[in-house]
Amino acid sequence: MNDAAGGRVSAPDSDAFRAQLEDWRVRMERALARRLPNSQTVPKRLHDAMRYSVLEGGKRVRPALVFATARTLGLSEDQVEAAACAIELVHVYSLVHDDLPAMDNDDLRRGRPTCHKAYDEATAILVGDGLQPLAFQLLAADPALPAAPEIRLRLVALLAEASGSLGMAGGQAIDLEVQGKKLDIAQVEDMHSRKTGALIRAAVAMAAACVPSLEPQLQSALKRFAAAVGLAFQIQDDLLDVLGDSSTLGKATGADRERAKPTYPAIIGIAASQAQASRLHAEALDALEPFGDRAEPLRRLSNWLLSRRY
Ligand code: IPE
Ligand code: IPE
Ligand code: MG
Ligand code: MG
Ligand code: MG
Repeated sequence: MNDAAGGRVSAPDSDAFRAQLEDWRVRMERALARRLPNSQTVPKRLHDAMRYSVLEGGKRVRPALVFATARTLGLSEDQVEAAACAIELVHVYSLVHDDLPAMDNDDLRRGRPTCHKAYDEATAILVGDGLQPLAFQLLAADPALPAAPEIRLRLVALLAEASGSLGMAGGQAIDLEVQGKKLDIAQVEDMHSRKTGALIRAAVAMAAACVPSLEPQLQSALKRFAAAVGLAFQIQDDLLDVLGDSSTLGKATGADRERAKPTYPAIIGIAASQAQASRLHAEALDALEPFGDRAEPLRRLSNWLLSRRY
């Protein structure tokens, strides 16, 4: 679809795309349930807490990015489902630890008591310890993934880099360090691009890694897209903490301000943060130009992310 000036614009968020998102969400529910140890497997309480934390909740945004990228590149969902599970497992582990009293100290997650509230703190730490290696086990051995060892190795490397001290975990360390401090916007952007952006970029990069023949120009276009979406996603998260509704979000609001977190709205205000999210969305759409109509799933997903209320 083109606008009057001849630039490509994405179709408005449609019912068909919402149905697609719901299909992906249901697919993930099944895919994750099948790959987690069942609650009757010893140690039962740990496995129960892992299933409690992973299943029946969450938007599954990172899996949706894996699937939308796969579709853009001509792959089926089946070919990347295990990679989508791996990213979601790391993401859930990051949420379980993020909510711990030593970090954000939150009681509500995905509309339910946080893992350490429903179980206990030691179990919540162990849930993270259990989910993270399970993610890498899937990348190493899940039969649904492309079998080529060099693809699997690349997936392991991408997820490890995105999760570790130079990615998500490092971003979380910065988030804790800077609580109560004044940051400039470039410093907040750097923190966001690590704590949230890294896994979002990995979602796109991992789907792309399943197509080793992808031209470098298209690889760069996807990187640019993912960097813009990743930052926009955490800006939206910061905005929803101020403007959102706790029962819709399924987590507390006002928590960033209470903990004096330097967020986008805290530093540049609500309107400027919204404008920045819209600019990043436009940048994300622009990055997809070289794909033409093939990138429609990614455009629609990006539209949905910009307008999300939860
Ligand atoms: C929340 O992530 C934490 C951030 C990294 C911003 P999501 O908004 O994707 O949380 P769920 O998975 O839908 O619960
Ligand atoms: C969380 O950021 C980032 C990670 C979990 C890596 P937030 O602390 O803002 O996420 P919420 O708002 O608790 O979901
Ligand atoms: Mg946090
Ligand atoms: Mg938090
Ligand atoms: Mg937040």
